[in-house]
Amino acid sequence: MGGSTVLSGKRILLIIGGGIAAYKCLEVIRRLRDGGATVRCILTEAAQQFVTPLSVSALSGERVYTDLFSLTDESEMGHIRLSREADLVVVAPATADLIARMAAGLGGDLAGTALLATNKPVLIAPAMNVRMWEHPATQRNVAQLRKDGVATVGPEVGELADGEYGAGRLAEPATIVDAIETALGQLRVVPGGLDGPLAGKHALVTSGPTHEAIDPVRYLANRSSGKQGHAIAAALAAAGADTVLVTGPTHRADPPGVRVVAIESARAMLDACAAALPVDLAVCAAAVADWRVTEVADDKIKKSGGPQTLKLVENPDILAKLAAPGPNRPALVIGFAAETEDVAANAAAKRGRKGCDWIVANDVSQAAGTFGGEHNTVTLVTADGAEDWPRLSKADVAARLADHIVAHFAKARAKTRGKASGGAS
Ligand SMILES: Cc1cc2nc3c(=O)[nH]c(=O)nc-3n(C[C@H](O)[C@H](O)[C@H](O)COP(=O)(O)O)c2cc1C
Repeated sequence: MGGSTVLSGKRILLIIGGGIAAYKCLEVIRRLRDGGATVRCILTEAAQQFVTPLSVSALSGERVYTDLFSLTDESEMGHIRLSREADLVVVAPATADLIARMAAGLGGDLAGTALLATNKPVLIAPAMNVRMWEHPATQRNVAQLRKDGVATVGPEVGELADGEYGAGRLAEPATIVDAIETALGQLRVVPGGLDGPLAGKHALVTSGPTHEAIDPVRYLANRSSGKQGHAIAAALAAAGADTVLVTGPTHRADPPGVRVVAIESARAMLDACAAALPVDLAVCAAAVADWRVTEVADDKIKKSGGPQTLKLVENPDILAKLAAPGPNRPALVIGFAAETEDVAANAAAKRGRKGCDWIVANDVSQAAGTFGGEHNTVTLVTADGAEDWPRLSKADVAARLADHIVAHFAKARAKTRGKASGGAS
């Protein structure tokens, strides 16, 4: 088992609600334990209709809690301790009913009481029928929870268990674990927020794909999931940087403590980046479309119009623009290079061409499974040469990059101080 530095040693309280997707939580538990986390579970009464306490207990390796009024539970653990002894409380699937109870602050069962009693961050993964999700009551309740500081992951759009199609699918286990890692990464922020090693620094991160409209319903895009960029934004915020994330369309949860600007096209991403300046560091992890169509059709292009030829024009080069010399150039500009061959050599060439300081090169050949995958194998190319990193989870790549950035600014600070004291002596 590889383990994850973010999950390792962390304690998760997983509250499983009574939804048809509850079985997916078994996979979430397995992944969390593989990453080195301890998982304690509460099953609502309804959840026990969908998964058994026995299977949850067998997978989590812990006893399972179901009853607020169980004398054994209370004497051994107690609902307050259960919720306080966790680093993070996760509700998955978060049913419409459980979301409503949370929004209203109801403590009529063990799940509700633990959620009221906790002093830890809470992440919910809603899952329900599309109409239930779109119902104004559910939307109102979710908005209230977000206002209360609860993070959300999903729901995703797709085919639902009841045969309908729309928003309401529980996020995939890998996506939920990713959101858990992001939330846990944020815990590394020293209480009070801005005390970390990057305190006082402003960071700009780009993430995800861009969508380049062809007509009102179609667009050009790529396979970027935004996992790596979002994880980097979370890691920088966790290190205390005031972080803006400019992201193309993704299914990722907003990283906690990060200001998120959602855009669609490359040109909108450039505008949002320009608006975020000045910053101390910029990490361009987005997979920006190289081209857009010369003219976006005002109306849907009709199939009956016969074969179409799309004329493309190059998009602005956001990395090169941010790295160009000028009063607003960030002190550290980091680009990503998605390569399918000669990764290090191509990355070094890109570093020179774009004028950025570092390049994080990753192998996006199909065999590497980087796009949309959980792991990344990267080479960090700087003025000092190339450093190959082992295969790591995207959260761990982000944490390691943040550590390098911290070291870079510490070195720069020491240099400035050295010069200052040298001048005075
Ligand atoms: C077969 C079946 C599937 C259900 N799936 C869901 C679901 O996916 N999401 C949801 O919000 N409620 C679902 N429900 C309704 C909940 O089980 C019900 O609202 C229950 O009271 C939720 O309890 P809990 O929130 O304490 O877990 C389902 C009910 C049945 C009978």
